Amino acid sequence: MSGNGAEAFLNLHNISRCYRQGDSRQQVLHDLNGTIQRGEILALLGRSGCGKSTLLNIIGGIDQPTSGSIRIDGVDLTGLDEHSRTMFRRHHIGFVYQFFNLLPTLNVVDNLLLPLELNGWSKEQSRQRIQELLEAIELPGHDTSYPDQLSGGEQQRVAVARALAHRPKLILADEPTGNLDAQSGKSVLNLLERMVREENSTMVLVTHSQAVASRADRTLTLADGKLQPASVGMLW
Ligand SMILES: Nc1ncnc2c1ncn2[C@@H]1O[C@H](COP(=O)(O)OP(=O)(O)OP(=O)(O)O)[C@@H](O)[C@H]1O
Ligand SMILES: [Mg+2]
Repeated sequence: MSGNGAEAFLNLHNISRCYRQGDSRQQVLHDLNGTIQRGEILALLGRSGCGKSTLLNIIGGIDQPTSGSIRIDGVDLTGLDEHSRTMFRRHHIGFVYQFFNLLPTLNVVDNLLLPLELNGWSKEQSRQRIQELLEAIELPGHDTSYPDQLSGGEQQRVAVARALAHRPKLILADEPTGNLDAQSGKSVLNLLERMVREENSTMVLVTHSQAVASRADRTLTLADGKLQPASVGMLW
């Protein structure tokens, strides 16, 4: 909390997540607490397997904690039933993954249109928004290309635009540059940061790269199931 009584944009309270497999039980998140302010870009570092994707999926309502609660912009996500959680996610959250995740049977424009249709945008609103997005991603001549006709970096630019198309309040990016060479990674990160700032959105950005993390407003490390201040020079 900010200490002045105002509630943080995102509030994680005593989050635990255990996985059971047969008789064994693995506690990945352990009474984890944390807050993120509106408009903040938070980088999340941590060793492979420490639970970063698990935490992102819990924040995004794809997975549920074993215990604890999450509030996003005043809404208690853990208090919602599955349908309401899905609706909340569709409306307010945008995901960017490591492996692009565009729909292979849809061209660039139709991939961008999908979140707008799911959110009930009118044809005219959608047309305008798609125009803005196409300008932002700067892939002239590729409007009707299919994902397999684009490079990895180009696909990820489209994926970034798709994640932000419907102006979600919160962007969850799970190693968005992890599968790209340095130059494409930089261009994707520039686009992501610019769009998040322009939309005054909030972002949690999982990365293994200190260079990527240095672009964030704040960096935390996930270790021993909890969020910890990142130590200087830590690299994974
Ligand atoms: N559905 C599942 N069932 C059982 N165990 C799981 C499941 N999902 C994740 N785990 C375990 O939880 C731990 C955390 O996984 P997670 O994918 O969150 O790590 P991560 O920090 O994202 O790692 P990476 O940096 O490699 O992506 C791992 O030990 C993983 O094996
Ligand atoms: Mg992961």
